[in-house]
Amino acid sequence: MTKLTLRGVSKAYGATQAVRRGDLEIAPGEVHVLIGSNGSGKSTLCKIVAGSVRPDAGAVLLDGEPVAVSGPQAARALGIGIFYQELSLAGQRTVAENICLTDLPRKAGLFVDRRALAERAQRYIALFEDVAGDDFAADAVVDRLRADQRQLVEIMKALATEAPVLIFDEPTSALDRAQVERFFAILRGLKQEGRSMIFISHRMDEIFAIGDRVTVIRDGETVATMALADTEPAAVIRLMVGEKDELAAAAPQPAAAVASGRAEPLLEVEGFTGAGFHDVSFAVARGEILGFGGLHGQGQSAVLRALFGALPHSAGSVRLAGRPLASRGPRETIRRGCAYVSGDRGRDGVITGRPILENVMPIHYLRNRLVLARPGALRDKARPALEALRTKFAGFGYPVSSLSGGNQQKIVIARWLIDRPSVLLLDDPTKGIDLSTKADLFALIRELAGEGLGIVLYSSEDAELLANADRILVFNGGRISRELVGDERTRYNLYHAAYEAA
Ligand SMILES: Nc1ncnc2c1ncn2[C@@H]1O[C@H](COP(=O)(O)OP(=O)(O)O)[C@@H](O)[C@H]1O
Ligand SMILES: [Mg+2]
Repeated sequence: MTKLTLRGVSKAYGATQAVRRGDLEIAPGEVHVLIGSNGSGKSTLCKIVAGSVRPDAGAVLLDGEPVAVSGPQAARALGIGIFYQELSLAGQRTVAENICLTDLPRKAGLFVDRRALAERAQRYIALFEDVAGDDFAADAVVDRLRADQRQLVEIMKALATEAPVLIFDEPTSALDRAQVERFFAILRGLKQEGRSMIFISHRMDEIFAIGDRVTVIRDGETVATMALADTEPAAVIRLMVGEKDELAAAAPQPAAAVASGRAEPLLEVEGFTGAGFHDVSFAVARGEILGFGGLHGQGQSAVLRALFGALPHSAGSVRLAGRPLASRGPRETIRRGCAYVSGDRGRDGVITGRPILENVMPIHYLRNRLVLARPGALRDKARPALEALRTKFAGFGYPVSSLSGGNQQKIVIARWLIDRPSVLLLDDPTKGIDLSTKADLFALIRELAGEGLGIVLYSSEDAELLANADRILVFNGGRISRELVGDERTRYNLYHAAYEAA
């Protein structure tokens, strides 16, 4: 008998077909692994089951009966609980409140029953006793917790639903070994109870340790399901890659000087070490687009932020155009011609509520030590940068929030182009933006490389990296584990380097 069935499920975001054809069958008492490269549609599939995303087509069946998972509440009522990859915690609330948030115990149906709440939460906190850290407590405020502790709270929150179907979308990415072991022991107990689980992880050792069957998802399609006892990691990776591994023929051809290694090194990094990255060494040449690849959170962003001076580093040296770059913070690196763009628009993006002109000018002010400038002159400077990115906007006086997400990101990028930088650090710059904006962005990046800029591109989408990087450094556990040059830039090599050590 099948507990949960997905049949022909699909979902598009604008022009992005996140899920093309999702077919899945989960048995009672099964841990069913979902594996696929970054951007292949795993999270979207999970959100469809959990009711937080409505599919465009297809059916969800529980115990063989079609059900309408019309929203998160409907999913809970149907007995479906989920651990969200991006977490769903209320930062200002306590651990106990978060664990019970989806169903707060109330007195007389009105006031939150504090005692009942504490008791219920304690059951799930106790499961992780000794591995959650000494400072982990029921009344700790979630925002003050470490990343691994927050992930544990999200796990507890999912467990507290006591749902017969539980979905875990990358629940272990921030956990240490002992925490993962404990979590797996709990999952084994749930299996005994006959509960059905979907489990997503990129770590082959975890997948083979806890999974019963695995379904491979590629470009939004579930392409194969097999028993983990009958397969091996290399076979799973081959399925993720697919038949046609578009060799570097489709990949960009770097400028001749870059390809032959004759190009002048622009940014030279030696033994760079800090929180989350160790002994990272590489050089970027003028005109080169150097890619950072690997699983999420392996140190790529941390290295870029530290190079920019937004995070400290503890060892190593950096040279820009032959001169040491003693990073005393972003102000210094910006004035030396270093630019940094991240896809985290919440943190590094636009100044909401302010006009477009103000949003596009701050770097120009900083680099030229301006205090006051004539708006007309500023507009003349900003216009070419915005046009190069084909930014659609009605006028400089409009609030930046009147623009689409993609056009807002173009404003953020245009900031850096008014005075040309020499190095452009791109930290997953296309996260959540539409395809046409991505195309405009990458066309411009190639053009800037042609002008002689050195570009470092970290992308969490493997396809994007393969299509745009002249060379790829694969990160694993904060270190560079492999370099892919020329026609080594294949999906297989990239996945293999990213997943094998994991
Ligand atoms: N809310 C969204 N808006 C626009 N595009 C999205 C959204 N969520 C996901 N996508 C896109 O859909 C594709 C699949 O994403 P996702 O399901 O998160 O993949 P995975 O979890 O396998 O990494 C990606 O190309 C991603 O950029
Ligand atoms: Mg995901």
